[in-house]
Amino acid sequence: MAGKHIVIGITGGIAAYKSLFLIRLFKSNGYEVRVVATQHAMEFVTRLTIETLSQNKLYTDMFDTSEPRDVHHISLAEWADCVIVAPATANIIGKYAHAIADDALSTMLLATKCPVFFAPAMNDRMFEEPTVQHNIELLKQKGCHIIAPASGFLACGSTGTGRMEEPDKIFAWVHQFFTKDLRLKGKNVMITAGPTYEPIDPVRFIGNHSSGLMGFCLAEEAAEEGADVTLVTGPTQLTCSHPNIHRVDVTTAEEMFQQCMQIADQQDIMIMSAAVADYTPLETAPEKIKKDNDELSLRLKKTHDILSTIGHQKRDDQLLIGFALETENEIENATKKLHTKNADIIVLNSLRDKGAGFRTSTNKVRMITKDGQTFESELKDKHAIARDILDLACQINH
Ligand code: CTP
Repeated sequence: MAGKHIVIGITGGIAAYKSLFLIRLFKSNGYEVRVVATQHAMEFVTRLTIETLSQNKLYTDMFDTSEPRDVHHISLAEWADCVIVAPATANIIGKYAHAIADDALSTMLLATKCPVFFAPAMNDRMFEEPTVQHNIELLKQKGCHIIAPASGFLACGSTGTGRMEEPDKIFAWVHQFFTKDLRLKGKNVMITAGPTYEPIDPVRFIGNHSSGLMGFCLAEEAAEEGADVTLVTGPTQLTCSHPNIHRVDVTTAEEMFQQCMQIADQQDIMIMSAAVADYTPLETAPEKIKKDNDELSLRLKKTHDILSTIGHQKRDDQLLIGFALETENEIENATKKLHTKNADIIVLNSLRDKGAGFRTSTNKVRMITKDGQTFESELKDKHAIARDILDLACQINH
């Protein structure tokens, strides 16, 4: 990676000592490294160690006049191909989320346009604090990469989530970012996500528990790999910020069907992860239904099956991936669905495993291909599951 410029921002947490290993890892792999540290970080590490390891001057002072013609926070921001804030305290996360610039690191962060990685490190209760979590969401919306903290023994003596990820993992994450080939560059990928809401009357609907997270992870991962993604999503609180993602919001199964059918023709890969309602009310009451009767019957009609419709009209050069959620004879039923809907891969969600399926950030799946191969994942983060699904898609659709 000769020539790639890394700025490491160190803030004031005990994990600052691990950043010294991070500097070493980048240097020994041929990266150029410069370091900006906050005043509090300097309580944990020394200038001599950082300058010796990085073989560059350490920046700590916004008003450093040793090189009068150089405005450090601007020149460093322009020099960087990537900034890694490790450890990232709640303080720097909050500052960058709200554009506060009051020291060398926070001003440099505001001035840079390059990819920024944050490796949070703090006490578990601080990490879980809602405002901190909200600020992390704001960073994600800005397009920052969050290298989630690990769980384990914390410096304060408790055990929980908040330990900065190990330097070799942080290095691997960033190194992969620079070296990965954009496998999906030039490909159009359509992804459906979330639930659909089928209106009963002006205030009520039939819906389901899908959060949309699996579909959003797929969209982000595909976009990261260079794809032009169209994300057709039902109602969800989730946000996405990647410039390669074009988001289309829909409410009902019929709207999702119409939107997908309009663009299906131009797609290379289609992934139907939405939990689409199978039935919708035959009629939507124009006014709120009153509770005048002891019983109420709703008449429902079948919705269009988007996966099946696309499956039966797609070209051979298009790859179609469906999802299945089964409660019995899982493999048998999922395989049947794969063939009747004419998909190339079916992803079988597990309902049996704790931490998989709806309302979790993790999932465990089995993927079955048209030619009968089966791949089973372990329980892991939905982003990692999304990468597994895209790996298989790329193998089949090369
Ligand atoms: N699907 C779809 N359109 C629908 C219903 C489902 O595109 N109207 C897609 C889902 O996005 C998913 C797959 O079909 O990729 C499987 O959905 P699932 O609800 O598990 O299967 P169904 O075909 O609805 O069959 P059943 O509910 O009887 O198991």
